[in-house]
Amino acid sequence: MQGTSAISPLTPYFLFSDRKDIDAAQLVALYRQAPWANTRNIEDAHEMLSHTDVVITAWNENRLVGLGRVLTDYVYRASIWDVIVDTTYQGQDIGTEIIQRILQHPDLKRVELFWLCTRSPDFYEKLGFSSKEQTGMVWARSKHARQE
Ligand SMILES: CC(C)(COP(=O)(O)OP(=O)(O)OC[C@H]1O[C@@H](n2cnc3c(N)ncnc32)[C@H](O)[C@@H]1OP(=O)(O)O)[C@@H](O)C(=O)NCCC(=O)NCCS
Repeated sequence: MQGTSAISPLTPYFLFSDRKDIDAAQLVALYRQAPWANTRNIEDAHEMLSHTDVVITAWNENRLVGLGRVLTDYVYRASIWDVIVDTTYQGQDIGTEIIQRILQHPDLKRVELFWLCTRSPDFYEKLGFSSKEQTGMVWARSKHARQE
């Protein structure tokens, strides 16, 4: 990770935070880059943040450049969602640092199993995740039904 000790004019460095009071407009701008999240709006994102248990963000000065978030019972299970790094900043270990900060977060240290759904299994396998024999199923509510 290019951390705070690697400051130079040519080397951007990134700060990481677990504060949840982030600007939902910046988050929605990040969501625009992810096919599964590019229709999300500021109001819903703001509400989502208030109900999410752990949020890890990456910053280049005041710009939100990465995020990952966790829903959990703090003991048995935690699910990881919305791991996104701004395309401009990908390939600089930000995603790796976000996942490691989730796995090592003090509030999550008792969690037995972390679960996630991904289209990038290679990225997570390098971080120790495996698919084992688990299969996932989803039930999705339509956009129309969500607005009723
Ligand atoms: C996947 C993602 C979060 C990775 O973030 P990143 O900061 O670019 O990743 P890192 O720089 O920490 O990369 C770590 C390693 O994973 C690899 N990697 C990065 N993105 C990858 C991807 N999409 N698929 C497979 N491997 C990937 C890198 O090549 C690197 O490998 P190396 O250590 O051998 O060099 C980022 O590319 C992203 O936001 N993609 C779009 C959204 C997405 O697909 N999210 C994941 C689905 S939940």
